[in-house]
Amino acid sequence: MQRRDLMRAAALAPLAAWGGARAESAPRPIRAAEGAVSAAGQPALPVWAYDGQVPGPTLRYRRGDVLDVELVNDLPDPTTIHWHGIRLPNAMDGVPHLTQPPVAPGERFRYRFALPDAGTFWYHPHLGTPEQVERGLAGALVVEDDAPPPVDVDHVWLLDDWRLDAGGRIAGDFYDYMDVSHAGRMGQRLTVNGQLEPVLPLQAGQRLRLRLINAANARIFALELRGLRGWLIARDGVPADASVEWDGPLLLGPGMRADVVIDADVAGQHAIVDRFGRGERLIGTVAVSGRDGVGTIRRPPPRPAEAAPLPMPDLAAAESHTLVFGGGMMSMGGWPDDPWTERVARRLRRMGGSREADPVWSVNGRAHMGRHDGHAPLFSVPTGRGVRLTLDNRTAWWHPIHLHGHHVRIVSRNGEPLPVQPWRDSVLLAPRDRVELAFVADNPGRWLIHCHVLEHHAGGMGGVFAVT
Ligand code: C2O
Ligand code: CU
Repeated sequence: MQRRDLMRAAALAPLAAWGGARAESAPRPIRAAEGAVSAAGQPALPVWAYDGQVPGPTLRYRRGDVLDVELVNDLPDPTTIHWHGIRLPNAMDGVPHLTQPPVAPGERFRYRFALPDAGTFWYHPHLGTPEQVERGLAGALVVEDDAPPPVDVDHVWLLDDWRLDAGGRIAGDFYDYMDVSHAGRMGQRLTVNGQLEPVLPLQAGQRLRLRLINAANARIFALELRGLRGWLIARDGVPADASVEWDGPLLLGPGMRADVVIDADVAGQHAIVDRFGRGERLIGTVAVSGRDGVGTIRRPPPRPAEAAPLPMPDLAAAESHTLVFGGGMMSMGGWPDDPWTERVARRLRRMGGSREADPVWSVNGRAHMGRHDGHAPLFSVPTGRGVRLTLDNRTAWWHPIHLHGHHVRIVSRNGEPLPVQPWRDSVLLAPRDRVELAFVADNPGRWLIHCHVLEHHAGGMGGVFAVT
């Protein structure tokens, strides 16, 4: 940090001599293009990549810094960059047609905004996402805390899964109807930063901060740590009020993040596994070398950084809105009054993939397909108004619901009021869950709210809310 301050001072010195004129610095380019990388166990996997890497380069800033990135699109398709989880000005949100025109092949687009919150975020396209994200376009965006909990090592683990075909290439069946109408596209190869089952070496006695990002199209992880003590210190980037011991499955839906601290107090190989659904899959290993027995001295839990304060709405005066999610394939009984279910079942008999999804999911009775610019907002609120938003999942499936431009708090689940929850940008709904959120709609613009199972979003599960 000190070194960086020095570098900053050095960078500012000529400016001061210049009479304080405002710097017009060049943006950092990020080039999206086709390429081949070593990933998912393949030595030269054809991918779409940012700066030739999968995942893309990790962008690191400090809170209050200005992110200034120019997207250079050398892909065969139009694209955009969405800065997932950042409370940014609407025009920088990267949603094609709604907040900016798509960036055509050969074109550029400059994103420039201040970073109001510290935390672990990520960036990805918001156009043709079931294909573009699956082909490798995703990267971590880390905004460092003002006073982070002291650790020896700080790592990003961007989790993904890959569906490869018989020839070892990324399978081209994007928008497969079976995937869209069920749990989304699952891949058979689980990776961390593109690699299979990585080993993270630590010295005994070290403290690690691991920033977990779920960049999979559809897979939900339930992560467990074996043989070491860990704590959850932030969710979706936002610091927890107090750290919570990581002693059970840590649920991470697509798009979600969790920051954990792990104490390397026992020598040996310690697995991090995924136990969502049936079976158990190895994600990666923490290898602790050095003296055993250091774990006899138990360190106190880390103290999370302080979150930027956000206003909590006065619940009694807040506007109430409800979003009812329906559709999808009903494997477990179903809602007899949902006409979508029957349609989906009929269509399922004529299976096959395409470059677009079919309408399968509904929000308040309607599938929201394709471009969102022509859609009437699901709800509108004046800027500054408190909102109580109920998400009612009347489907047999899990849905990580993500809001753009705002952070929300869960206030109740299935009618049970909850103690004060941390702010977050996504909420994972279990089948038949009914969750009530609260937030102050303080960021003007037309924003998306959608399921981050990318195939569900493509199949209609998303819409616009307007802050006017
Ligand atoms: Cu991660 Cu609407 O996005
Ligand atoms: Cu969903």
